Amino acid sequence: MDLELQGKAAIVTGAASGIGRAIALALSREGADLVLADIDVAGCERTLALMRAARADAQGVVVRADAGECADHEATVNAALDAYGGLDIAVNNAGIGGEAKLTGEMSPEGWRRVIDVNLNGVYYAMHAQLPALLARGGGAIVNIASILGQAGWRTASAYVASKHGVVGLTKSAALEYAERGIRINAVGPGFIETPILGEDPEALAQLAALHPVKRLGQPGEVADLVAWLASARASLVTGAYYPVDGGYLAQ
Ligand code: NAI
Repeated sequence: MDLELQGKAAIVTGAASGIGRAIALALSREGADLVLADIDVAGCERTLALMRAARADAQGVVVRADAGECADHEATVNAALDAYGGLDIAVNNAGIGGEAKLTGEMSPEGWRRVIDVNLNGVYYAMHAQLPALLARGGGAIVNIASILGQAGWRTASAYVASKHGVVGLTKSAALEYAERGIRINAVGPGFIETPILGEDPEALAQLAALHPVKRLGQPGEVADLVAWLASARASLVTGAYYPVDGGYLAQ
């Protein structure tokens, strides 16, 4: 299926690693021009090199942006306007796991940082992106939530609350902008093999076993769904939450 993203300008936050890198590669493969935003500039440069290795005329600019800082999202949108003259697609993917602690033992600072990056960051992002998408006459936003945007997890209450918040924020904003041509959806990955999960083989095997498919997901499996949602092929899809989780939430 040709997603027809040639000439579309797209922002991906958290583009230096894991799922964000795979999303940037998928959008670029389909023809989009990218703004790669992250606190890890070197990682974004690596993503850009991979984009160019896959498609010689791939377009990308790198912006150092902290997802928990409102002004950094405005700078990211301005980078898209400067480089490409507008914005068509935004994928708000940057996220952190935070402290693995029981709610009664989690530090207030740890709680606030997770909410700042994972939830406030998506609000800051959309607040900056929506005027630019309106100016373009429409577009698509995909927010990366989690299966933990629909279910709980011991020792991750801040993360779980942030991801549930992302799903609610996505639905509400989708209702607000549906008539003006902006589609806003959330994607909920199961456990995906990226650095956020750490490297302990035993822990990774235990996480894999929780999924009916009995394996961890790969970043590209999330990216293909995101690229489709970002494209006009998904023209009737808005306000939705799509799991991509090997059956986790069906249990
Ligand atoms: P990752 O750790 O490989 O990548 C996260 C990226 O976000 C990194 O490039 C990191 O530098 C960047 N980042 C972290 N804090 C940032 C900040 N304050 N500002 C800007 N960028 C920041 O992790 P992964 O797995 O690729 O995660 C991407 C998204 O997917 C996150 O929102 C995560 O919560 C979500 N997710 C991941 C799952 C998994 O099992 N890997 C499962 C469900 C959701």
